[in-house]
This record gives sequence, C-alpha cells and structure tokens, in this order.
Amino acid sequence: MTPVITRSSELRRQVADWRAEGRRVALVPTMGNLHAGHLALVERAAGLAERVVVSVFVNPTQFDDPADFERYPRTLEADRERLAAAPCDLVFAPTPAGLYPFGQAAAVRIEVPGLSEGLCGAWRPGHFAGVATVVCRLLNVCQPDLAVFGEKDLQQLRVIERLVADLQMPVDIVGAPTVREADGLAMSSRNTYLSKDERQRAAGLYRTLCRLRDAIAAGEPDLKGLETTGKDWLAAEGFVPEYVEIRRWRDLGPPEGDDDLVVLAAARLGKARLIDNLRVRGKRKDER
Ligand code: PAF
Repeated sequence: MTPVITRSSELRRQVADWRAEGRRVALVPTMGNLHAGHLALVERAAGLAERVVVSVFVNPTQFDDPADFERYPRTLEADRERLAAAPCDLVFAPTPAGLYPFGQAAAVRIEVPGLSEGLCGAWRPGHFAGVATVVCRLLNVCQPDLAVFGEKDLQQLRVIERLVADLQMPVDIVGAPTVREADGLAMSSRNTYLSKDERQRAAGLYRTLCRLRDAIAAGEPDLKGLETTGKDWLAAEGFVPEYVEIRRWRDLGPPEGDDDLVVLAAARLGKARLIDNLRVRGKRKDER
C-alpha cells in the first residue's frame, strides 16, 4: 500500500529529500472518495514529475453548507487501495488541526477577488476563499514543483492559477481534462448522491452543454439568449438549474469578440449538485 503521512513536517522533509536528489515532485490535491477522474490527475502528474504526492483532506472551510460537509464521503482506506495501483508515491492525509494549527476561526484566509465571484461563487458564498485558503496551505506545506487540478472545476482552477501568480509562488499549476462516464457525465465524487433513476438522467447536463457548444460553434450570435435556452433545456430534463453561462476560456471573462470560449453550468438533480463545462473553440468570428 502507498505510505501515508499525516504530519506537515514529515511531508516537507520527504519532499525536500526528493528534491535534493534532483527529482521533480507533483502534488495532486483531493478531498478523497477517489474515482477514475482523480486517477487521471495522478497519471498526468506522473507524466510531469518523478514523485507524486496525493493529498486527501475534506476541507471544512470550503463548505458553505455544514450538512454537506458532514455527509461528504470519507474513504481513506479505499482511496489508498485505489492509489496502490496508480503512480502515487505518498498520500498526505493531514488532520484539520494539522492544516489549521490556530483553528478555523483564527485561520489566515486567502481571498481571490473577481475570479471567485459569479458562477459557482454566486451560489456558494465563501467557497472559493476556502479553496484558495486550503490550496495555499497544501502548496506551502508540500512545496511541490507542480500541482495538478481537474478542468471540471474550471473556476477553481482559474482561482488557483491567480492565487499562485499573485502570491508569486514557485509552483506550476497544471489543468487536466475532464474524465467522463460512457454517457458523458463528468466524473465527480458527488455522483454517488444520485439515485439510480437520477443517474440515468444526469448525462442531460452534458448533452445540454453539447447542444450549446454546437450552437455557438455554428455562429449563433445571441449568447445571452443561449444561456436562457440552456437553462430551459436543463429544467425540461428534470434539473433545477443554477446557472448556464458562456465565458472566455482563458480567464472566464465576458465572451465578447472571443473565439475561445467555454459553456459552464451548475444544476441540482435530487440531492446532488452537478457542475460541468465544455470548451468551444472555433471560427465564430469568421462565421458570423
Ligand atoms: O477539487 C477539490 O477536490 C478541492 O476543492 C481541493 C482542490 C482538493 C481543495 O480542497
């Protein structure tokens, strides 16, 4: 089984030893409950570094709903088993007190204004401050050469890129493509909240994004109208939509005049809150 370290000081020592031997070290931060999407992040990390650390920590500061935090699956032993077959050298599983030594209420917090607002930020107050705060801590404790995050959580990825750029942290942030089930549903730990019937309908989110992507790529100029239509399509498939938005891929800015876009959506299906996005690259400007 892959060794587990819980103490920050031990992790830092191990990473320093590896780096002194000239090895590149990658960190893959997770909240556990690992699935094939996480394993793809680990593979990506192993393609870029000689040593891979996977952190498993259900971070309390990023949950806007305490009930959501309580019920979030904690599956460390199963996660270790999954990682045993993956190119992972070490699991870092800190305790809350280990990562927040002065307690959560007194914790230094990191805010990333602008990028944290809107999209999921509008529906989950404080969420991205919690993510930025814990990722900053994980990067500080581990001191990897690079860290890998999934593009499914695109706003999170952009927030972390900005955090690292603004604080001039010496680490490369790498985005990895979304891994999907056979019917297109993006892999997510939250998919386990879906009933059998909901699971069958859940790929409607991906199908909606595909329809929107195709409409944009075909030159539809009314992007605001498409966002409204997208929400209607989701509602018709039994989702409770939160948002459907078309933004610029590189920085999630407004889409005007760009031809590298992304359609992002969040919607509830039963107890699950699902998010997904699809990049739209193409010749929009030429086609209009
Ligand atoms: O994407 C996640 O699983 C979490 O938000 C992260 C990046 C591990 C921070 O807790």
